[in-house]
Amino acid sequence: MEILSSFIVFEGLDGAGTTTQAARLAGYYGSTGRACHLTNEPTSNPIGTLIRKILKKEISTTPEALAMLYAADRSDHLYNPEYGIVRMLEEGNTVISDRYFYSSIAYQSIDCDSSLVRMINAYPSPEFLIFIDTPAEECMERIEKRGGEKELFDRLEFLRQVRSNYLSQLDKLPSGVHAAVIDGRKPIDEIGEEVRAFLSPFGF
Ligand code: TYD
Repeated sequence: MEILSSFIVFEGLDGAGTTTQAARLAGYYGSTGRACHLTNEPTSNPIGTLIRKILKKEISTTPEALAMLYAADRSDHLYNPEYGIVRMLEEGNTVISDRYFYSSIAYQSIDCDSSLVRMINAYPSPEFLIFIDTPAEECMERIEKRGGEKELFDRLEFLRQVRSNYLSQLDKLPSGVHAAVIDGRKPIDEIGEEVRAFLSPFGF
Protein backbone atom coordinates (compact mmCIF):
# COMPACT_ATOMS: atom_id res chain seq x y z
CA MET A 1 0.00 0.00 0.00
CA GLU A 2 1.60 3.19 -1.20
CA ILE A 3 1.43 6.21 1.12
CA LEU A 4 2.11 9.75 -0.07
CA SER A 5 4.11 11.59 2.60
CA SER A 6 3.21 15.20 3.37
CA PHE A 7 -0.24 14.70 1.83
CA ILE A 8 -3.13 15.80 4.08
CA VAL A 9 -6.76 15.03 3.19
CA PHE A 10 -9.91 16.53 4.70
CA GLU A 11 -13.13 14.57 4.42
CA GLY A 12 -16.70 15.03 5.61
CA LEU A 13 -20.31 15.33 4.55
CA ASP A 14 -21.50 18.22 2.37
CA GLY A 15 -21.69 21.20 4.73
CA ALA A 16 -19.36 19.60 7.31
CA GLY A 17 -16.78 22.37 7.05
CA THR A 18 -13.91 20.65 5.22
CA THR A 19 -13.41 23.54 2.78
CA THR A 20 -13.13 26.07 5.64
CA GLN A 21 -10.69 23.92 7.60
CA ALA A 22 -8.51 23.01 4.60
CA ALA A 23 -8.23 26.72 3.76
CA ARG A 24 -7.42 27.63 7.38
CA LEU A 25 -4.65 25.07 7.57
CA ALA A 26 -3.20 26.28 4.27
CA GLY A 27 -3.37 29.85 5.59
CA TYR A 28 -1.55 28.81 8.74
CA TYR A 29 1.21 27.08 6.76
CA GLY A 30 1.48 30.16 4.56
CA SER A 31 1.98 32.32 7.66
CA THR A 32 4.73 30.02 8.96
CA GLY A 33 6.54 29.92 5.61
CA ARG A 34 5.86 26.24 4.90
CA ALA A 35 5.54 25.52 1.16
CA CYS A 36 1.98 24.35 0.76
CA HIS A 37 -0.44 23.58 -2.05
CA LEU A 38 -4.19 23.66 -1.38
CA THR A 39 -6.39 21.69 -3.74
CA ASN A 40 -9.79 20.01 -3.91
CA GLU A 41 -11.95 17.38 -5.57
CA PRO A 42 -13.91 17.48 -7.76
CA THR A 43 -11.23 19.63 -9.41
CA SER A 44 -11.75 22.67 -11.60
CA ASN A 45 -10.01 20.87 -14.48
CA PRO A 46 -12.04 19.55 -17.45
CA ILE A 47 -13.23 16.28 -15.87
CA GLY A 48 -14.08 17.98 -12.57
CA THR A 49 -15.99 20.68 -14.44
CA LEU A 50 -18.06 18.01 -16.14
CA ILE A 51 -18.77 16.43 -12.73
CA ARG A 52 -20.02 19.77 -11.36
CA LYS A 53 -22.49 20.03 -14.26
CA ILE A 54 -23.84 16.60 -13.31
CA LEU A 55 -24.11 17.64 -9.64
CA LYS A 56 -26.06 20.73 -10.65
CA LYS A 57 -28.34 18.46 -12.70
CA GLU A 58 -27.46 20.34 -15.90
CA ILE A 59 -26.65 16.98 -17.45
CA SER A 60 -27.65 13.54 -16.31
CA THR A 61 -25.78 10.25 -16.43
CA THR A 62 -25.66 6.88 -14.66
CA PRO A 63 -24.22 6.43 -11.16
CA GLU A 64 -21.51 4.19 -12.65
CA ALA A 65 -20.48 6.82 -15.21
CA LEU A 66 -20.33 9.42 -12.43
CA ALA A 67 -18.21 7.09 -10.27
CA MET A 68 -15.80 6.61 -13.17
CA LEU A 69 -15.64 10.35 -13.78
CA TYR A 70 -14.70 10.99 -10.13
CA ALA A 71 -12.01 8.33 -10.42
CA ALA A 72 -10.75 9.83 -13.70
CA ASP A 73 -10.71 13.34 -12.22
CA ARG A 74 -8.67 11.90 -9.36
CA SER A 75 -6.13 10.25 -11.67
CA ASP A 76 -5.56 13.58 -13.38
CA HIS A 77 -5.49 15.37 -10.01
CA LEU A 78 -2.80 13.02 -8.76
CA TYR A 79 -0.64 12.42 -11.82
CA ASN A 80 -1.05 15.36 -14.16
CA PRO A 81 2.58 16.21 -15.02
CA GLU A 82 1.97 19.97 -14.78
CA TYR A 83 -0.23 20.46 -11.74
CA GLY A 84 -0.66 16.99 -10.22
CA ILE A 85 -0.42 16.30 -6.49
CA VAL A 86 2.57 13.98 -7.01
CA ARG A 87 4.45 16.73 -8.80
CA MET A 88 3.56 19.24 -6.07
CA LEU A 89 4.85 16.82 -3.42
CA GLU A 90 8.05 16.18 -5.38
CA GLU A 91 8.63 19.93 -5.50
CA GLY A 92 8.65 19.93 -1.70
CA ASN A 93 5.14 21.16 -0.98
CA THR A 94 2.85 19.91 1.74
CA VAL A 95 -0.35 19.19 -0.18
CA ILE A 96 -3.78 19.68 1.42
CA SER A 97 -6.80 18.30 -0.42
CA ASP A 98 -10.44 19.04 0.34
CA ARG A 99 -11.74 15.48 -0.46
CA TYR A 100 -10.02 12.45 -2.00
CA PHE A 101 -10.92 8.83 -2.75
CA TYR A 102 -12.61 8.37 0.64
CA SER A 103 -15.39 10.58 -0.77
CA SER A 104 -15.92 8.20 -3.68
CA ILE A 105 -16.09 5.17 -1.41
CA ALA A 106 -18.49 6.95 0.94
CA TYR A 107 -20.79 8.50 -1.70
CA GLN A 108 -20.61 6.35 -4.85
CA SER A 109 -20.93 3.03 -2.96
CA ILE A 110 -24.53 3.98 -2.19
CA ASP A 111 -25.73 3.86 -5.79
CA CYS A 112 -23.04 1.63 -7.32
CA ASP A 113 -21.51 -1.72 -6.52
CA SER A 114 -19.00 -0.96 -3.77
CA SER A 115 -16.39 -3.38 -5.12
CA LEU A 116 -16.45 -1.51 -8.46
CA VAL A 117 -15.96 1.78 -6.60
CA ARG A 118 -13.04 0.37 -4.62
CA MET A 119 -11.45 -1.15 -7.69
CA ILE A 120 -11.42 2.08 -9.67
CA ASN A 121 -10.11 3.99 -6.64
CA ALA A 122 -6.98 1.98 -5.86
CA TYR A 123 -4.97 5.17 -5.47
CA PRO A 124 -2.16 5.81 -2.98
CA SER A 125 -3.20 6.79 0.55
CA PRO A 126 -2.44 10.17 2.12
CA GLU A 127 -0.17 10.34 5.17
CA PHE A 128 -2.92 12.19 7.09
CA LEU A 129 -6.69 11.90 6.96
CA ILE A 130 -8.86 14.34 8.90
CA PHE A 131 -12.56 13.53 9.10
CA ILE A 132 -14.68 16.50 10.14
CA ASP A 133 -17.60 14.70 11.71
CA THR A 134 -20.74 16.82 11.50
CA PRO A 135 -24.09 15.05 11.88
CA ALA A 136 -26.21 14.76 8.73
CA GLU A 137 -29.02 16.84 10.29
CA GLU A 138 -26.66 19.75 11.02
CA CYS A 139 -25.19 19.51 7.50
CA MET A 140 -28.66 19.68 5.95
CA GLU A 141 -29.44 22.79 8.02
CA ARG A 142 -26.22 24.44 6.87
CA ILE A 143 -26.91 23.55 3.23
CA GLU A 144 -30.40 25.01 3.51
CA LYS A 145 -29.07 28.21 5.12
CA ARG A 146 -26.58 28.66 2.29
CA GLY A 147 -29.53 28.77 -0.08
CA GLY A 148 -29.24 28.03 -3.77
CA GLU A 149 -30.27 24.89 -5.56
CA LYS A 150 -29.76 21.60 -3.77
CA GLU A 151 -27.20 19.39 -5.47
CA LEU A 152 -27.53 15.72 -6.30
CA PHE A 153 -26.34 14.37 -2.93
CA ASP A 154 -27.95 16.90 -0.56
CA ARG A 155 -30.55 14.63 1.09
CA LEU A 156 -30.74 13.69 4.77
CA GLU A 157 -31.07 9.92 4.44
CA PHE A 158 -28.34 9.85 1.84
CA LEU A 159 -25.96 11.88 4.02
CA ARG A 160 -26.60 9.55 6.96
CA GLN A 161 -25.53 6.64 4.82
CA VAL A 162 -22.48 8.58 3.61
CA ARG A 163 -21.42 9.20 7.22
CA SER A 164 -21.73 5.56 8.07
CA ASN A 165 -19.63 4.67 5.00
CA TYR A 166 -16.95 7.11 6.16
CA LEU A 167 -16.90 5.62 9.65
CA SER A 168 -16.42 2.10 8.32
CA GLN A 169 -13.49 3.25 6.19
CA LEU A 170 -11.90 4.85 9.26
CA ASP A 171 -12.07 1.46 10.98
CA LYS A 172 -9.87 -0.25 8.43
CA LEU A 173 -7.20 2.19 7.33
CA PRO A 174 -3.72 0.92 6.43
CA SER A 175 -1.29 1.34 9.34
CA GLY A 176 0.75 4.17 7.78
CA VAL A 177 -2.25 6.50 7.51
CA HIS A 178 -2.65 8.78 10.53
CA ALA A 179 -6.31 9.66 11.00
CA ALA A 180 -8.24 12.07 13.21
CA VAL A 181 -11.98 12.41 13.71
CA ILE A 182 -12.90 15.92 14.80
CA ASP A 183 -16.34 17.01 16.00
CA GLY A 184 -17.62 19.37 13.30
CA ARG A 185 -20.20 20.98 15.63
CA LYS A 186 -17.46 22.84 17.50
CA PRO A 187 -16.62 26.46 16.67
CA ILE A 188 -14.45 26.94 13.58
CA ASP A 189 -11.44 28.17 15.63
CA GLU A 190 -11.56 25.21 17.97
CA ILE A 191 -11.66 22.75 15.08
CA GLY A 192 -8.70 24.58 13.54
CA GLU A 193 -6.77 24.18 16.79
CA GLU A 194 -7.60 20.48 16.99
CA VAL A 195 -6.40 19.99 13.43
CA ARG A 196 -3.07 21.62 14.27
CA ALA A 197 -2.77 19.72 17.55
CA PHE A 198 -3.21 16.47 15.63
CA LEU A 199 -0.61 17.33 12.97
CA SER A 200 2.06 19.11 15.00
CA PRO A 201 3.55 16.02 16.73
CA PHE A 202 4.40 14.78 13.22
CA GLY A 203 6.18 18.03 12.39
CA PHE A 204 3.27 19.47 10.35
P1 TYD B 1 -17.97 19.45 -2.56
O1 TYD B 1 -16.73 19.28 -1.79
O2 TYD B 1 -19.24 19.65 -1.80
O3 TYD B 1 -17.76 20.63 -3.57
P2 TYD B 1 -18.24 22.12 -3.43
O4 TYD B 1 -18.55 22.38 -1.97
O5 TYD B 1 -17.07 22.91 -3.90
O6 TYD B 1 -19.44 22.19 -4.33
O7 TYD B 1 -18.13 18.21 -3.53
C1 TYD B 1 -19.17 18.13 -4.42
C2 TYD B 1 -19.98 16.88 -4.22
O8 TYD B 1 -19.33 15.75 -4.78
C3 TYD B 1 -20.28 16.50 -2.78
O9 TYD B 1 -21.66 16.17 -2.71
C4 TYD B 1 -19.48 15.25 -2.55
C5 TYD B 1 -19.41 14.65 -3.90
N1 TYD B 1 -18.27 13.75 -4.18
C6 TYD B 1 -18.53 12.42 -4.46
O10 TYD B 1 -19.68 11.97 -4.44
N2 TYD B 1 -17.49 11.60 -4.77
C7 TYD B 1 -16.21 12.04 -4.83
O11 TYD B 1 -15.29 11.26 -5.13
C8 TYD B 1 -15.95 13.43 -4.53
C9 TYD B 1 -14.55 13.95 -4.58
C10 TYD B 1 -17.01 14.25 -4.20
